[in-house]
Amino acid sequence: MRIVLLGPPGGGKGTQAARLVEKYSIPHISTGDLLRGAVSAGTELGKKAQAVMDAGELVSDDLVLGILKDRLAESDAENGFILDGFPRNLVQADMLEKVLEEIGQPLDEAVQVEVPDELLIERLLGRAEIEGRADDNEETIRKRLQVYQEQTAPVAGYYQEHGKLTQVLGVGSIDEVFERICSALENRS
Ligand code: AP5
Repeated sequence: MRIVLLGPPGGGKGTQAARLVEKYSIPHISTGDLLRGAVSAGTELGKKAQAVMDAGELVSDDLVLGILKDRLAESDAENGFILDGFPRNLVQADMLEKVLEEIGQPLDEAVQVEVPDELLIERLLGRAEIEGRADDNEETIRKRLQVYQEQTAPVAGYYQEHGKLTQVLGVGSIDEVFERICSALENRS
């Protein structure tokens, strides 16, 4: 199973990916987590990415593609993966298509989780109190939502055109959303 999870900041991609990992025994590959790891480790990439992430903007396509390719080359991704946070724009969607073709692992499905903005802000401000992520403050959250609408939402249309898009309502309990995702994946054409 090779899946892309699409959805706005706070949409529940990471939360649902953790459940999907258990169900399908494939790794969760989050470009946000990979970038935060590089920031914590103080690598050159992390130094370049930090200010961009703190501002709620997108890190450059080439930098993110580089870390994604390295991660996809690890042995645990041979039998599938759940990609979270990539692709983030149409250029990245094309890049991903090419990379997956090169490694002979075409995508099965893109699942878009849809949640209204007000609930997203509430969830992310709630997470800020627990985890203290640098980009979970109201100003940056609103910027991330704007970037999502302008740059990432069109990626759903890309997968729709390729006959690979499933849209799922991300409102309700974590279990309810998970059930919706699983049944959508099981019933996909
Ligand atoms: P990234 O880490 O990808 O962040 P994001 O897309 O903003 O997504 P979040 O992690 O905030 O939300 P999520 O959908 O995973 O929700 P979660 O499950 O955590 O990216 C961060 C930054 O890195 C970007 O802004 C950019 O700068 C950079 N970046 C990353 N990828 C990039 C790329 N490809 N190109 C360029 N730049 C890139 O849930 C959120 C909260 O809600 C949690 O507290 C959770 O417990 C709660 N929750 C979840 N589901 C429910 C539910 N059903 N009911 C109640 N609460 C729920």
